Amino acid sequence: MRVLLVTGKGGVGKTTVAAATAVRASEMGYRTLVTSTDPAHSLADAFQEKLGDQPTRVAKKLFAQQIDSQERLEESWGDVRDHLTELFDWSGLKGIEAEELTVFPGMDELFALASVRDHTDSGDYDLIVVDCAPTAETLRLLSLPEVLSWYMEKIFPIGRRVASFVRPMLNKVTSLPVADDKVFAAVASFYERLDGIRDILSDPEVTSARLVMNPEKMVISEARRTYTYLGLFGYAVDTAIVNRVLPDTVTDPYFDRWHEIQKGHLESVHDGFADVDIRELRLFDEEMVGLDRLRVVGDELYAGRDPVDHFSEGRPFRVEDEGDNVVLVLAVPFVDKAEVDVLRHGDELIITVGPYRRSFVLPDSLKRRQVRRAQLVEAELRVTFGLDE
Ligand SMILES: Nc1ncnc2c1ncn2[C@@H]1O[C@H](COP(=O)(O)OP(=O)(O)O)[C@@H](O)[C@H]1O
Ligand SMILES: [Mg+2]
Repeated sequence: MRVLLVTGKGGVGKTTVAAATAVRASEMGYRTLVTSTDPAHSLADAFQEKLGDQPTRVAKKLFAQQIDSQERLEESWGDVRDHLTELFDWSGLKGIEAEELTVFPGMDELFALASVRDHTDSGDYDLIVVDCAPTAETLRLLSLPEVLSWYMEKIFPIGRRVASFVRPMLNKVTSLPVADDKVFAAVASFYERLDGIRDILSDPEVTSARLVMNPEKMVISEARRTYTYLGLFGYAVDTAIVNRVLPDTVTDPYFDRWHEIQKGHLESVHDGFADVDIRELRLFDEEMVGLDRLRVVGDELYAGRDPVDHFSEGRPFRVEDEGDNVVLVLAVPFVDKAEVDVLRHGDELIITVGPYRRSFVLPDSLKRRQVRRAQLVEAELRVTFGLDE
């Protein structure tokens, strides 16, 4: 079982790469599903087929799906939302504001992930290719299971206890709507669906992220940031795909300057993504839609290789022994010392890189130890734990 997350800035060619990867894999015999979490669904355009919320067969071993996250939200979250709306009404918020507040950002996208989980569990597929939303949303999405599990573990049990305790009294004296068991059951079952997603997505044996970019300055900068944050959250990146490279066959002098510029950018990609496999895809002379053209894209992109392979090791973090000390090593390429902050909070290690924060729940072996120092060495953050004295 493999999961490939195809991500990158808007318009770089994510959908094309995701669809072409899926076409090639399915033709090599893998039972493949390509699914889109991007609300701007364009898989249907890529395949030139009508696609729906459920997997639709588009070729022999190939299924495609565009998740209607809004509908999924209704299904699983309806009870919780009704309760929150009631609560906001009671507190005097206008209906429309309440409506907005009850869906926290990224909520709908989470359902796309829950659906990936369903498919990995079903055993129906050998490969799931996820055509992700543009980078920012994807990062938010990929950090959400962590945020949510923190919430569920820390806050939810308390909330539940308080609610069952106060409900009988409150109902007598005020009309404050208190969550009933139906609401808690809905939250719990939603959480159960999500639980384990992080395990799948952060297992480098199963999941690899493929970063799509164009040979353009801004696009590469964003890809570098994404690479950093994916590492922070523990997702392995195995390939950088540079799409829309002008082929050498373009000899018109009008494009001479463009050849130069792209050459410079390709060099910077090779410097910045030295740890991962780099694949180039030329700018084709037409839009690459439909099975036949996607096959051409897939063949050129993977050049005789199996798209399901791990193209590079991509281990986002590891633990090393260093004499009496134990070092947690986290790949965070492209960051400055000033952007990184490490904080020990009880049994958790809170690592902040730029605007993103992740909390590591420390394994038992590290809980009894003290953080001695945190250093940035080359592209890695090394947090050294010493024995208590
Ligand atoms: N290498 C390429 N050569 C020619 N057209 C391309 C290439 N890559 C993508 N396209 C076209 O560019 C448009 C945007 O690509 P798409 O894959 O939808 O980007 P994204 O999903 O990142 O927004 C599509 O019409 C697609 O067919
Ligand atoms: Mg797209």
